[in-house]
Amino acid sequence: MKILFIGARLFDEVALYAQSRGVTTILSESNPKSSNLKLADEYHIVPRGMDHPMNIALTEDVDAVVPLIGIDKPLLEVAKMKEKLEKEYHLPVITSGINATEISVNKIKTKNFLIENNISTPGFTEITKKQYVNSKFRLKFPTVLKQAEGQGGVGVKIALSPADIESYFEIYPEAIIEDFLKGAEISVEVLRWKNKSVPLVSVYKGDTTLEGIHPLNKVRTAPANLENLDNQKLIKMAKNITDELDANGTTEIEFIFSEETKQINTLEMNTRPSGTRFLTFSSSNINPMHQLVNMAMGEWKPRAVEREIKQYAALEMSLSLNENNQISSQNNYDPKNRVFTSDKPWIIHGPDNASRITVRSENLTNSFEIVKNFKIKE
Ligand SMILES: Nc1ncnc2c1ncn2[C@@H]1O[C@H](COP(=O)(O)OP(=O)(O)O)[C@@H](O)[C@H]1O
Ligand SMILES: [Mg+2]
Repeated sequence: MKILFIGARLFDEVALYAQSRGVTTILSESNPKSSNLKLADEYHIVPRGMDHPMNIALTEDVDAVVPLIGIDKPLLEVAKMKEKLEKEYHLPVITSGINATEISVNKIKTKNFLIENNISTPGFTEITKKQYVNSKFRLKFPTVLKQAEGQGGVGVKIALSPADIESYFEIYPEAIIEDFLKGAEISVEVLRWKNKSVPLVSVYKGDTTLEGIHPLNKVRTAPANLENLDNQKLIKMAKNITDELDANGTTEIEFIFSEETKQINTLEMNTRPSGTRFLTFSSSNINPMHQLVNMAMGEWKPRAVEREIKQYAALEMSLSLNENNQISSQNNYDPKNRVFTSDKPWIIHGPDNASRITVRSENLTNSFEIVKNFKIKE
């Protein structure tokens, strides 16, 4: 079994697993300085874009392709490659197709998709700078300003006053204006392949703030444990959205849950490996990235995955790695250390300047105790 992986940045999360399953790993990457190249049995440095990876897949006669792409921008081109390789060469490509990708990478299309499917989402309007200037727009503050494309909070601003809107329009010619929701931000990752889907675990990412602090910068825990939140219902919603979207591979569905109104609103869908994946793995003991390899091998067993889901208490936060710290970064970044053991119930991951620790234990109090021993970034 030979698999082509596209993108080296996340390759360290699958390399050892794929090799342990007897897979010959071929890696394609555009950055010759990328750190994970040596982990592959064979690697190719190619120009950006999907033409070259597609050629490699064909000339190397691989059995499947697993794109490991954590950013939105290339996803549409990846989806086009998927449809071509699957249709013309019967070569499985473990990612979402064109339709699901178009919807998920564009927040206006996302909103329209949710509305068409009667899924609650914060109210919104689209407006250009010109329309804003020329009309007497009456807005309730706070309100959220966004761009159709962006991730990690790029282009998202919580406006508290008309002045905030004006300064936003200094930068962008148009905006999505969305109702601000006060509540808990929750994600669920859903695995889906061949029309079978398995939602994993609810991840609590902190409450929304007026500063619009992105959940990536907060302490996050799993499973979510919030008063009045029905986790089973939430997980079912995530599954239904993924099915309706016809997403494939791994998809993250984001929600805001209001404890006041008890309403679950859907914020967005991301059809790519999610920033919550270490929390999901820590809590459920299902590693979404490894499951992509299983899908590629034709050995994905959704019912078995469902049965094996655990409910450990997972906790993740930013970590400053410096000489005062009791851990040595090199040792912790070694892919061999990407496991939870009783001696080391944590995983360190992420780039040096933005490293994170994900902890697992039987309950959240213990998880907090474990991270106390590290110097945590405020
Ligand atoms: N309607 C909203 N109400 C409150 N906070 C919001 C709202 N929309 C976005 N935010 C905040 O901004 C963050 C980023 O918004 P999101 O739509 O998920 O875009 P991105 O693709 O950048 O993650 C959210 O995680 C949340 O913290
Ligand atoms: Mg988001």
